[in-house]
Amino acid sequence: MERIVELEKMSFEDSSDEVTLRPTIWDDYIGQEKIKKNLQVFIKACKKREEVLDHILLFGPPGLGKTTLSHIIANQMDTNIKVTAAPTIEKGGDLAAILTNLEEGDILFIDEIHRLSPAIEEILYPAMEDFRLDIIIGSGPAAQTVQIDLPRFTLIGATTRAGMLSNPLRDRFGMHFRLNFYNDAELSKIVQRASIKLEKESNTESSFEIARRSRGTPRVALRLLKRVRDFAEVEDEDMIELHRCQYALDELGINDKGFDEMDLRLLELLLSNKGKPMGLNTIAAALSEDEGTLEEAIEPYLLANGYIQRTARGRIATVKSYELFRLSPPSETNEKSLFMENT
Ligand code: ADE
Repeated sequence: MERIVELEKMSFEDSSDEVTLRPTIWDDYIGQEKIKKNLQVFIKACKKREEVLDHILLFGPPGLGKTTLSHIIANQMDTNIKVTAAPTIEKGGDLAAILTNLEEGDILFIDEIHRLSPAIEEILYPAMEDFRLDIIIGSGPAAQTVQIDLPRFTLIGATTRAGMLSNPLRDRFGMHFRLNFYNDAELSKIVQRASIKLEKESNTESSFEIARRSRGTPRVALRLLKRVRDFAEVEDEDMIELHRCQYALDELGINDKGFDEMDLRLLELLLSNKGKPMGLNTIAAALSEDEGTLEEAIEPYLLANGYIQRTARGRIATVKSYELFRLSPPSETNEKSLFMENT
């Protein structure tokens, strides 16, 4: 049977690479400085008062370290973290089993929290607010509610779609943090740290090269590092040098800006529309890609870096995209008027 909850221990002995590379203390967690600083204060205050930490909502594009951050929080609070994902919680009984198995002070991490069904959300409200589970026995007029006290716990909800969360659920989180894309210097530090752990060091030039091509995302940077390491391995090289890095990344089809094939196909599609906006469903159909994936995983980086714009009538490529492809924009007035519409 599939396990709904995984109890994760703070340890480097874990077998999976992602976990091995994951930092467990603040000093090793690079970037997201504001979030880090605030969380350090809240954790300190909470420990001083000997309370459980308020519930935390983490949101932002995938791969920016929401899970990693949650593990550090658990480590700092000296508690266990139990990790699950909303799509695996189908029935009320699934959530009841998770909640009743928590211990005092535990952290429950629910990934993709925007995907909880309304019925499950209803069970979560009293659990979050009063650490109470309301179980309805029977149905119709004879139905009875039995209340079970739960241990005090901290829920960390992670989502790529904060806008899809219902208001009552969002309001029950005492802290909301949006994770942002990382800059090249931060990503390069992450790559250097990881390459030491992977026993194939990368110099400054190489780690910056990987950083520049990682779409501002640590998960992408670590994935690229592992593939570059493979290229260095078969060439019997002890260090990851810039030329090997460039060769490997080119072979992987990652361009100079870090765009992968799907980014380029999306940009080409919008450019081919000659300044006219294109709706999300049209884009999804043309690229054979799911609308949610486009909105959550592909568009945010292109939007944040000014390659595309969202307007009321759809998406358009910006002048920056035309320049990237060495094309001349259709007309300046066209983009300006679309921009005005968006603001
Ligand atoms: N791995 C994933 N995210 C990280 C971060 N922010 N700092 C260091 N290592 C990471």
